[in-house]
Amino acid sequence: MSDPVTTQTGTPSGKGRRLKFHILRFNPQLPGDTPRMQTFEVEEQSGMTIFIALNEIRERQDPSLQFDFVCRAGICGSCGMVINGRPDLACRTLTAKFTDGEITLLPLPAFELIGDLSVNTGKFMREMSERIESWIHGEGSKECNYNILEERMDPDLAEAIYELDRCIECGCCISACGTKRMREDFLGAVGFMHVARFRLDTRDNRTDDDWYEIIGDDDGVFGCMSLMGCEDTCPKDLPHQTQIAFLRRKMVMVK
Ligand code: SF4
Ligand code: F3S
Ligand code: FES
Repeated sequence: MSDPVTTQTGTPSGKGRRLKFHILRFNPQLPGDTPRMQTFEVEEQSGMTIFIALNEIRERQDPSLQFDFVCRAGICGSCGMVINGRPDLACRTLTAKFTDGEITLLPLPAFELIGDLSVNTGKFMREMSERIESWIHGEGSKECNYNILEERMDPDLAEAIYELDRCIECGCCISACGTKRMREDFLGAVGFMHVARFRLDTRDNRTDDDWYEIIGDDDGVFGCMSLMGCEDTCPKDLPHQTQIAFLRRKMVMVK
């Protein structure tokens, strides 16, 4: 007899189901390799996540399967992939959520493909951080001033900054954004969340005129078409809609 568990969605499910994983396989480093779908079957266990299933596939069926993970706890942001059409974290997604037992996995679009389900979000995030100079600018300096990091801060402000600091740079918001697909240099929601965070921080002396130089065009906040895929898919439930609308209003007021 199966061992029923109640999932996040309230769907009763248990171990013993045969899950079918349809996974995109492609190694761009391998001469002549072409993208194809490959199906693996896995016996479901209680509390199984996509991450656990992928590990089982790699250990028992195909050691060449590529995917990324570090923390297994929704913290590092490295296990993002498209799960049945929706960008999400593999380590936080229960297989029990998929009642028909059919699960299709694709790599996150908009990032350089390393192989199979592994993409290079690090390169994208580094370029984004350099573009918005993702560090505190103090006292007329473009360099980080470590002394001001020690200054006292109002607890409410610290809380508001912390709320935006919860971004784990997983790339789900970028992959869910239609504008990013059409406009290669579009900064994207993760960049806007970082800008909103630094704009809020009173230790950063950049003005709205300075921010306008960075996000005041169609590759910045004016390119956003309010598609809201970012807000729908962010595993940290960051307030994309509110923050992007706020930034847009502020940038309109600059000119
Ligand atoms: Fe991931 Fe949300 Fe950060 Fe985007 S804003 S990178 S979806 S945590
Ligand atoms: Fe893209 Fe989010 Fe704007 S999905 S278009 S950045 S609202
Ligand atoms: Fe770190 Fe999933 S492995 S967020």
